[in-house]
Amino acid sequence: EKSALTHWYKGHLLAAKLFHHVLISTDEGKDAREYLRQRGFTKEAIDHFQIGYAPNSWDFLTNFLNKRELPMSEMVECGLLAVREFDKKPFDRFRDRIMFPIWNKQGEIIAFGGRILKDGNPKYLNSPESDVFNKSQILYYIHEARKVIRKKSEAVLFEGYVDVIAAWRAGIDNGVATLGTALTEGQVKLLHRNTDKVILCYDSDNAGQNATFKNAKILEQSGISVRVARLPDGMDPDDYIQKFGGERFSQDVIGQSLTLMGFKFQFFRRGKNLQDEGQRLEYIQSILHEISKLKHAVERDHYLRQLADEFSISLEALKQEQFQIYKSQS
Ligand code: GTP
Ligand code: MN
Ligand code: MN
Ligand code: MN
Ligand code: MN
Repeated sequence: EKSALTHWYKGHLLAAKLFHHVLISTDEGKDAREYLRQRGFTKEAIDHFQIGYAPNSWDFLTNFLNKRELPMSEMVECGLLAVREFDKKPFDRFRDRIMFPIWNKQGEIIAFGGRILKDGNPKYLNSPESDVFNKSQILYYIHEARKVIRKKSEAVLFEGYVDVIAAWRAGIDNGVATLGTALTEGQVKLLHRNTDKVILCYDSDNAGQNATFKNAKILEQSGISVRVARLPDGMDPDDYIQKFGGERFSQDVIGQSLTLMGFKFQFFRRGKNLQDEGQRLEYIQSILHEISKLKHAVERDHYLRQLADEFSISLEALKQEQFQIYKSQS
């Protein structure tokens, strides 16, 4: 008898193939094709990432898996199907959604992310956690990006799979994503096994920028050096690529990514009115605090000068101020 795990992988692979087929060559997939076309997904990207469409049915996948003699209880356990509360009858969990297969690092499909076509809640429905799908340990696309990450000795980290796919179209093929903004030790280790340079490319909204600040710290603490890509306000990587194209994304966003300190200079400005003296001093204090944490004197000096120039303050005054911060820290 085959082990349950084999059934889980097989079920996911069959489902991915089925959803992909529905998307690319059936009538039912027409709206989904149109949706993806409007969002700039190319045929090449749809094939490469095995994107599919789960039709609006309660038993489409259920019947399909049943006919393939995959044990229903296992298909429920691995999250492909859900069960009705009152009689435990299995039904399709994903209905009327664009389906993104999620791979483990060995390249087996272990889960799906499903995006609704129109507005609605939840916008993304992910498979439930299971013995093989631990969301906090997954880096989307690492199974393929790994070799490129090693070759380029750099990885780009995104918030979601849609951004990874958009970036891939733009030739950024060393991109991976957490499923959301949190970054765990396990994911950091997985990255660090392949590179010690990471470019963070999260959304420009508050959630994305706060996560950038937090995750940059986690990465640096593990010995990875961090750069940060900047996007115009209100945009995420996918929005940017749709609006300005892949070439500008790779040149102006990835190519012009900031050093971590450069990012902090603009991060602490967010929502501050620097014409206001109190807010200006607060900003300067925050930056001084960050500068004081830098290991090398040359670096500290460089950024102190930058700060001094920015506000036409004397370097002496800043050094005096920073001395106070040092004293208060020790
Ligand atoms: P699009 O409108 O498709 O471009 O999505 P978005 O850019 O608004 O996605 P967002 O930045 O909000 O989320 C980034 C990632 O977080 C997604 O790729 C998902 O993996 C995850 N995510 C977003 N919304 C949800 C949700 O409602 N439920 C779950 N489980 N995950 C979500
Ligand atoms: Mn959103
Ligand atoms: Mn976001
Ligand atoms: Mn986004
Ligand atoms: Mn988006």
